[in-house]
Amino acid sequence: MIRAHLTVDPHFVVGPINRRLFGSFVEHLGRCVYDGIYEPGHPSAGPDGWRADVLELVRELGVTTLRYPGGNFVSGYRWEDGVGPVEQRPRRLDLAWHSTEPNLVGLDEFAAWTKLVGAELMYAVNLGTRGLQEALDVLEYANIAGGTTLSDQRVGNGAVAPHGIKMWCLGNEMDGPWQLGHSTAGEYGRLAASTARAMRQIDSSLELVACGSSGAQMPSFGTWDRTVLEHTYDEVDYISCHAYYEPIDGDLGSFLASAVGMDRFIDSVIATADFVKAAKRSNKTLAVSFDEWNVWYKSRYENVDRITDPNSWPVAPRLLEDTYSVLDAVVFGNLMISLIRHADRVQAASLAQLVNVIAPIMTEPGGPAWRQTTFFPFSLSAQLAKGVALELRLDCPSYDTVEHGEVPLLDGVATYDATDGSASIFLVNRSMDAPAQVEIDTRALGPVVPGMARTLSDADIHAANTLAEPERVGLADNSSIERDGDRLLITLPPVSWTVLTLNPS
Ligand code: AHR
Repeated sequence: MIRAHLTVDPHFVVGPINRRLFGSFVEHLGRCVYDGIYEPGHPSAGPDGWRADVLELVRELGVTTLRYPGGNFVSGYRWEDGVGPVEQRPRRLDLAWHSTEPNLVGLDEFAAWTKLVGAELMYAVNLGTRGLQEALDVLEYANIAGGTTLSDQRVGNGAVAPHGIKMWCLGNEMDGPWQLGHSTAGEYGRLAASTARAMRQIDSSLELVACGSSGAQMPSFGTWDRTVLEHTYDEVDYISCHAYYEPIDGDLGSFLASAVGMDRFIDSVIATADFVKAAKRSNKTLAVSFDEWNVWYKSRYENVDRITDPNSWPVAPRLLEDTYSVLDAVVFGNLMISLIRHADRVQAASLAQLVNVIAPIMTEPGGPAWRQTTFFPFSLSAQLAKGVALELRLDCPSYDTVEHGEVPLLDGVATYDATDGSASIFLVNRSMDAPAQVEIDTRALGPVVPGMARTLSDADIHAANTLAEPERVGLADNSSIERDGDRLLITLPPVSWTVLTLNPS
């Protein structure tokens, strides 16, 4: 048994939790849109083609923002293709995913669906094959009430009220050689800065995101962000981070500590942004938009030959449909802990992606929709992480990893809601074989009683939810809690994620 001790103290404040931390991402990729959120003819779909069963699960997941329409897709996308009468919309080759894009869903439809979800739309403009003018056009189309050709076109298309999109991504992963229009940091920085300046001439209150590096593994990591920010610092509000994690050569110890990699990634991007701030003697502090993150078994996807076959351009092929295990969900829950722990600077994040494509929700055409294992830590974190993030004082043994060096066996973060005095503690046990008993010192919170205690774990860490067994894995009540004077004791099984709430007594 691992023994650990932690202190929760409402004075250890990291920063307020921005609700945008619990966003997700819908790309025109594989079956995320078509046969995902949209499937006319599905028994649960209404006249607008949205699957009601999927919508219900998305609401339950609790996503607060939706980044759209890509991803790599956006770097070849003509937004005009997706508006106006559906029967007149073109079918296009999508080079990013070697698919055919039928344009049955576009900006107006997606904005309407986002409203049904109760989320905020975050829109990415194409700075790959297109540029400043098209960014201005889509902004005018989306946000101007009326009286210009483009805004009147939206009204004529049935979207009478402007979409009021506040947050805009200036392109996607422009540092990646796989990206259409891939450019150097200087080229991209200049284009992003001039696009941002022009967009602000339409609306100075927009919140703009410059493309940071698409991962700490990129050879240009660090220098990319610095150069881009030298051009854009005064014009943007966020720098983006993207990161995906998977086990390398079966090394589960390092995989379980992926959040250490995420912590270091975020800290390094913040350090670069603050370096540029100091060099520019700016008063503005940049936030991070971690607008793509997840566990993704990318190495499996890179072996799919079909995506380079010149004779195959399918509509909505099954791409990137990872099945997530309990192990993956524990790593995933730990990544959320890392995001929450950086709440002072990470003020937006998008789980990539929402449905079918490396997603917490899966669907079968004409059939059911179900929750993957990753659904559970996301929905409970979105629901229970409120108020401010608190740094935990956590003492526990550590272990050695190949990728990250020596790391603690346990990790966690707490949140505190001053409006009702409640706290939530999110914890993971990274040990492959030992349970951990954690002694929690709650004295600084005043008298509290435990509320909800739920754990995700399984004797088979590879167990997953599938079409055949959609409810194989779920959360269980953690009934191990004991009181020891003014301390609480809770036991965390090996490879597990847990949330414990505390309420004033
Ligand atoms: O989320 C899948 C892809 O990962 C996105 O299209 C791209 O931005 C990233 O490389």
